[in-house]
Amino acid sequence: MQLILCHATMRIVMLGPPGSGKGTHAVIIARDLGIPVIASGEIFREIMRGDDPLAKKIRKYVLRGDLVPDEIAIKIVMDRLELQDCERGFVLDGFPRNLRQAEALTEWLSRRGLNLDLVIYLKVDREELIRRLSLRRTCERCGAVYHLIFNPPKKDEICDFCGGHLYQREDDKEEVVKKRIEVFERESSPLIDYYAKKGILREIDGTGTIEDVQERIKAVISCLRRNDPRV
Ligand code: AP5
Ligand code: MG
Ligand code: ZN
Repeated sequence: MQLILCHATMRIVMLGPPGSGKGTHAVIIARDLGIPVIASGEIFREIMRGDDPLAKKIRKYVLRGDLVPDEIAIKIVMDRLELQDCERGFVLDGFPRNLRQAEALTEWLSRRGLNLDLVIYLKVDREELIRRLSLRRTCERCGAVYHLIFNPPKKDEICDFCGGHLYQREDDKEEVVKKRIEVFERESSPLIDYYAKKGILREIDGTGTIEDVQERIKAVISCLRRNDPRV
């Protein structure tokens, strides 16, 4: 499906367990809508490349599969949202992750007279998540995501988009993946209800090919834009 896009403001949250495709689809949606992706995990991995106290602290949580403490995550993401490129909207990937973060985002938006337009909840079963994450590769330069079987790069270990080197994330080891899925179920799944009550949650079947899932997401966004008097 071809989205007819006049770049109107859209604020979207991608919600879903590890491996559900948040990063994969956030990048495609953001490119189509001409807005940035703000991916908290990517921001933390960038900080973790340093060796200052903040890098060490974040690393400790990420490598265990635990959430980085709220006060750090909220401050970093809110500071990022203040930048000018977010004025015309954004796709948030990986934030909010619990009710406290969701409340902080709601408050941040309402102080500015803004709203979220859409929360996309990607639903995928546990076995499929583990299958996807075990063979994932990520570009160290631009963060693009591949899968050695389902979405391989054209050249081994090289990013199609920027030529960067592909690596396996340190938190994609099987025990850490299992922990991250548990953390999602415990901490993040209450957000499904939180956003459903606000009337902005759309649950999307995250299984099938990447193209299948992207079609479903685009159908939801197109529908939303048709009903939006600003567009
Ligand atoms: P983060 O980087 O957000 O990781 P995550 O939530 O665990 O999600 P993933 O990035 O693993 O999966 P994804 O849903 O993006 O799937 P992807 O598109 O890559 O967070 C990492 C850590 O940072 C957290 O554990 C935490 O410690 C910390 N953190 C981050 N945000 C935080 C916050 N707000 N507060 C506190 N701490 C925070 O797809 C997965 C694979 O599947 C890829 O290989 C892809 O090619 C493949 N694939 C995708 N779709 C399909 C399909 N339809 N069919 C086949 N393969 C597919
Ligand atoms: Mg991701
Ligand atoms: Zn790249």
